[in-house]
Amino acid sequence: MAGDWWRDAVIYQVYVRSFADDNGDGIGDLPGIRSRLPYLAGLGVDALWITPFYTSPMADGGYDVADYRDVDPTLGTLDDARGLVRAAHGQGLKVIVDIVPNHTSSRHEWFRQALRSAPGSPERDRYLFREGTGDAPPNDWESVFGGGAWTRLPDGQWYLHLFDPTQPDLNWANPQVRDEFHDVLRFWLDLGVDGFRIDVAHGMVKQDGFPDVGAREQHKLLETRPLPYFDQDGVHEIYREWRKVLDTYDPPRIGVAEAWTATAERLARYLRPDELHQAFNFHYLTTGWEARALREVVDHSLTAIPAVGAPATWVLSNHDVHRHATRYGGGPAGVRRARAAILLMLALPGSVYLYQGEELGLEEVLDLPEEVLQDPMWERSGHTDRGRDGCRVPIPWTRGGSALGFGADGSTPWLPQPRAWSELSVEAQTGAEGSTLELYRGALHTRREHPALGAGDAVDWQDSEPEVLWFSRTAAGRTLHCAVNLGPEPARLPTGTVLLASDEYEVDGSHTLLPTDTSVWWEA
Ligand code: GLC
Ligand code: CA
Repeated sequence: MAGDWWRDAVIYQVYVRSFADDNGDGIGDLPGIRSRLPYLAGLGVDALWITPFYTSPMADGGYDVADYRDVDPTLGTLDDARGLVRAAHGQGLKVIVDIVPNHTSSRHEWFRQALRSAPGSPERDRYLFREGTGDAPPNDWESVFGGGAWTRLPDGQWYLHLFDPTQPDLNWANPQVRDEFHDVLRFWLDLGVDGFRIDVAHGMVKQDGFPDVGAREQHKLLETRPLPYFDQDGVHEIYREWRKVLDTYDPPRIGVAEAWTATAERLARYLRPDELHQAFNFHYLTTGWEARALREVVDHSLTAIPAVGAPATWVLSNHDVHRHATRYGGGPAGVRRARAAILLMLALPGSVYLYQGEELGLEEVLDLPEEVLQDPMWERSGHTDRGRDGCRVPIPWTRGGSALGFGADGSTPWLPQPRAWSELSVEAQTGAEGSTLELYRGALHTRREHPALGAGDAVDWQDSEPEVLWFSRTAAGRTLHCAVNLGPEPARLPTGTVLLASDEYEVDGSHTLLPTDTSVWWEA
């Protein structure tokens, strides 16, 4: 079905500030993205997800929105946004934009009004203002960025912010808040976007009575126990309403949940037929490079998510986590594993999210000088957590130039790029045999053409050694095999017509000898 393009789509995440800088001020922008659309179309992805570009003081990279219906002047104009969506469609690419409904910026007109208004006023009721006890905040909730989740005003009241103090949480029990976001959805849908990535989709509803958690480091507990401010059942009512809005468009537009939940079953609740279309599979992202654990999370995802009629999704990196080449060990071994991992991920049924720069084999930049760090986590953690800037370093497009082609020569990117990235640039890797970029291109094009890749919702596991993941998939009379060797010794596998391998391998008669940390796709 044409309307179901998203079920097996490969969606490329663009972190706006770090993708391409058109006007040379050091910050990526919408015209920059537009100029790189041919690159994305050529790479072979189906859609882009663009992180927030709305009017914002940028205290949290744009996840602090001051005006949901306009573009931040550093990133472009509303006309640029319109032009970008149109140009992307012209290249056959869909566009998903971010929506940030859990909190606004403290510079949003509503929060300014709330600050000017008295405790108990309707202006304050759009946010979560409460009285504390003596000098203590209303409860023990913690900010995801470190420290307490409450900030006190001179008049004595406290307001809740699950993130930075410049990101006050909205009160989703207030009908004005709900109406406003329906309207914002329609604004961007009318402009032509194909869907939304919903920021902190598990956070908008807080448990009645705001009970204490009674523990420290609360966000690490989500896996083991419910938290009064995350994944509350009430959020689903919001998505049922949003679905009605999305469905008024033809073809229906989609909603993708950024929801951190304890289990895949809890995640599937966001994907029931009258709610959202996709949710990021963070259980997959957080699994290490270990055969048994990966097989378990694949099986678990493929059981829980299709059970509600939704496609599974797969993701390894985004703008909030260390790049996976680094998580998998870093250096040549980490990159080798990352290359093996992409063939595994692209062979799984469902939809895949890529993060800009992973196709270049970029690693986390771990040694950014302290004085350039901008992530609020750095300050909020009292300089104990360097935060997420290391995965947000601007992309290298060319070998030369002061910004490696991210911006014009002479410009200075907002975060410094390692000089070694020159040889990882798009220019250096294009057409270079064996480069990570060409591996991605080859894999994405094969995935598009091969009927057994993408579609469907199951894999057929084959008998293999415990450290080898080997499965096949069949469609339209063609069977594709995917095997990954996560063990230290070469693995013997039957051979056939090899379509793609993540690194070199040997052939021994009728067998393939697959080296450690290598994956291969073949047809028997
Ligand atoms: C999401 C975003 C993250 C942001 C946070 C607060 O987790 O991905 O970048 O800091 O929400 O909006
Ligand atoms: Ca710029």
